[in-house]
Amino acid sequence: MNSPVTILAIESSCDETSAAIIRDGKVLSNLIATQKVHERYGGVVPELASRVHMQNIIPVVDVAFQDAGVSKDEISAVAFTQAPGLIGSLLVGSCFAKSFAQANNLPLISVHHMQAHVLAHFITENPPFPFLCLTVSGGHTQIVLCRDYLDMEVVGETIDDAAGEAFDKFAKMMGLPYPGGPLVDKYAATGDPLKFKFPMAEMKDFSFSFSGVKTAFLYFLQNQTKLNPNFIEENRDDLCASAQHTIVNMLMAKLVKAAKHYRIRHVGIAGGVSANSGLRKALTETGKKLNWTTYIPPFEYCTDNAAMIGITGYHKYMKGSFTDLTVTASARASW
Ligand code: KG4
Ligand code: ZN
Repeated sequence: MNSPVTILAIESSCDETSAAIIRDGKVLSNLIATQKVHERYGGVVPELASRVHMQNIIPVVDVAFQDAGVSKDEISAVAFTQAPGLIGSLLVGSCFAKSFAQANNLPLISVHHMQAHVLAHFITENPPFPFLCLTVSGGHTQIVLCRDYLDMEVVGETIDDAAGEAFDKFAKMMGLPYPGGPLVDKYAATGDPLKFKFPMAEMKDFSFSFSGVKTAFLYFLQNQTKLNPNFIEENRDDLCASAQHTIVNMLMAKLVKAAKHYRIRHVGIAGGVSANSGLRKALTETGKKLNWTTYIPPFEYCTDNAAMIGITGYHKYMKGSFTDLTVTASARASW
């Protein structure tokens, strides 16, 4: 193993093209090109996402090298998101990573996107193990029990929609542009979270379900706008605050249950929805009450980014966990 260990990391699983350079576990650069093209369609259009990744990938990697002040001769290995995600998007990042590794005779490291969201915590902090992480993104909602950097177990997950999807669909019903989660968060700040009540699904164990609450949001808004066509505009902030409160409560109830069951006191949140201020506040307050040490990654490491792929790549590098050039991207993947 050469020292220092410098990883070039690539993330392209959805609609952000990102490249990062990580040296001995420290982020030297982390470039994220967000794709605006999807806004007008109200959701990510997979075909457009892969085309934009094709346009972005080389300039983004180029700037990541410039920002880090590193040359390609200093790279020890290339890490990339292999799964899960949109297959066309993943293929762009994986083909780039494989080509770069082959052209420069470098080892290749494949990374699981959801594992990387959890390890985003270890970019700026070092939570002790066992560590419990609620990973909430646009496509996933999972409670992950981490025994070590690369020893993780999903102990609970959603049986249908993800929490991020519930935020985005609610926002769409409110007439807000994609991705609606951050806007719901923004308007919720000045709304009353207890103004409107929505039913919360009762699920077994540590499982989640968000399809019922999504339907409840829809019927409620449809019924109210029949009575008052201006209902949404007149109640925007209270509606956002109440919907956010419902989703956050559903997430926190299961996290508390799992932490008690596994007797874990080091608890964090990760993934795009962990940028939500209601969830961040709820975790901090619950942590104080239950005597947990809580962990919340900085904003730039919550939503999709290559730095989290790089930190995962670094730990895999230290374990000698490499892959060969026959590796292919995969839309779905279990751990
Ligand atoms: O992890 P991520 O960037 O991409 C996926 O892997 O899916 O998560 C994106 C999700 C979207 O659903 C987005 O609306 C949601 O995270 N999100 C938020 C906030 N910021 C991002 N949801 C609620 N509040 C936020 N502040
Ligand atoms: Zn993600």
